[in-house]
Amino acid sequence: MPKNISIFINNKKYSAEIGQSVLDVAKKNNIYITTLCHHPDIKVQGSCRLCLVEIKGRKGLFTSCNTQAENGMRISTESKNISRAKQTNLELIFSEHCEECGDCIYSQDCTILDFAKKYDVKITKYEDRKKAYPVHKFGPALEFDTSKCIDCGLCVDVCKKEGVDFLEYKKKGKFYEVCPSSKKDKDCIYCGQCLTHCPVGAFEGVGEFEDVDKYIDAKGKTVVFQFAPSIRSSIGEEFGMPVGSVVTGKLIAAIKALGIEHVFDVCVGADMTTMEEATELIERFEDDRPLPMFTSCCPAWVKYVEFYRPDLIPSLTTVKSPQVIMGGLIKTYWAQKMNINPKDIIVVGIMPCVAKKYEIERSQNNVGKFKSVDQILTTRELAHLLRKKKIDLATIKPDSAKSPLLKPSGAGVIYGSSGGVMESALRAAYKKMTNKRMPKLNLKEVRGIHGFKKAEIKIADKTLKVGVVNGIANAKKLLEELEKDPQAYDYVEVMACFGGCIGGGGQPVPVNDEIRKKRSAALYNLDTKKVARSADENPIIKKMYKDFFNDDKNRHSVCHTSYRKKKKEVFPSK
Ligand code: FES
Repeated sequence: MPKNISIFINNKKYSAEIGQSVLDVAKKNNIYITTLCHHPDIKVQGSCRLCLVEIKGRKGLFTSCNTQAENGMRISTESKNISRAKQTNLELIFSEHCEECGDCIYSQDCTILDFAKKYDVKITKYEDRKKAYPVHKFGPALEFDTSKCIDCGLCVDVCKKEGVDFLEYKKKGKFYEVCPSSKKDKDCIYCGQCLTHCPVGAFEGVGEFEDVDKYIDAKGKTVVFQFAPSIRSSIGEEFGMPVGSVVTGKLIAAIKALGIEHVFDVCVGADMTTMEEATELIERFEDDRPLPMFTSCCPAWVKYVEFYRPDLIPSLTTVKSPQVIMGGLIKTYWAQKMNINPKDIIVVGIMPCVAKKYEIERSQNNVGKFKSVDQILTTRELAHLLRKKKIDLATIKPDSAKSPLLKPSGAGVIYGSSGGVMESALRAAYKKMTNKRMPKLNLKEVRGIHGFKKAEIKIADKTLKVGVVNGIANAKKLLEELEKDPQAYDYVEVMACFGGCIGGGGQPVPVNDEIRKKRSAALYNLDTKKVARSADENPIIKKMYKDFFNDDKNRHSVCHTSYRKKKKEVFPSK
């Protein structure tokens, strides 16, 4: 049997591998076929019937996503019959979907809306339909509007692939519908992968942009924005820029164009997280405290531990996440310098993640009497707000503000990708333990978007066994290893989303591994251009330790948190 075969698509010959689907061959050769229920992260569904093709010598139409390419096969991707069938299928799908696109944050990227235009589909209004279908609220983080759901099942499968398995099909009358699990031992961790895999915007973050809009003009309040490491290499996609474009200066300019005077870079908060986490790691080693130490920057992972594995709480680092530390610094260190009462400061975080909406509600993350961060907008929500205000990131002139709170080390920037927290902490731990810069700064062993990485890193006379996982399913595999050998790892980074924050639930869609790789590569590239490559080399971090964190009370209040076992929280559906 030949390893490679040939097929003809629209009369042109292409080489294909045995086992490849017709759709895969077409995609590889840039031949466009409409798809709705197909996502490269998920096993083939074959339910939407929009990827129809004709095969010469066979009767009828075939779904290309689950039809294997065969040697000599002759495929047509366009014909009158195909268009007519797609039109009918789209009308059926659209009858399942709410047609009120005006306020839908997703309408910019709505796949079926694009297809409806392409195939001239008459969109029928089902006035009463929306009333009958509930909106499920998942904590303070996300909502599932079932009137938009077309039951394609991508969310159910991605939730399973993630390792949470909270979404399920329930029988309702004759049909099955997607709904959250009512089982007591299952809860949503707010990773938001359902959002980035839903083709029709049925899932979204709990919308806050209207509140933020109100705050911007509020009298007597100082509204400040802070943006997460990964936003700089992803938000450009929302404005038609190439994937992986770095837009830090444009982002600052766009936020200022909204009327915000003070903008901060959460990468500086990441540098502070690194310093504290490296210290805690060394102390845990020396004081015989529980190892491995787990990172806690990802609130979805923290929720997973608190709900599913509370026995692991002592292993979570007590260091707060970068956005929470940065918000705390703004309301203490910066507020003092600016002589502003912290009660009058509103901190808005621009985050790649809907779980961050949950993280800021945790009272353990407050700084003194105040919430560290008041509002969260995801990358998509900020883009929506900018578009509403007619601010175009693609054309805006970059701002070149040079505030020290906008100047992170390279280690702070790479936090946005899986392995970045680990690499940053190891660079700083090396400096703390040897008083020298790490000779090999690029720790390739912990980089990359693949789900499970492990390495042994030598620092002074110690060899650290480290693990980096993304996706809870991979975290579970690592935990299984630890059951067998409790000393298998000393330090473990866990990010719930595929590829880390660059693949977060609040990031632009579509997303796939190719896109994740480009967003990630852009951050590592930025790191190499920085003079300060390690958090300890950042002048503003040194200054804050000298002037502000010389008081241990300040350091603890801004930088450290606590955790507790959680029960399932039920939020009533609307
Ligand atoms: Fe093939 Fe949906 S993409 S059936």
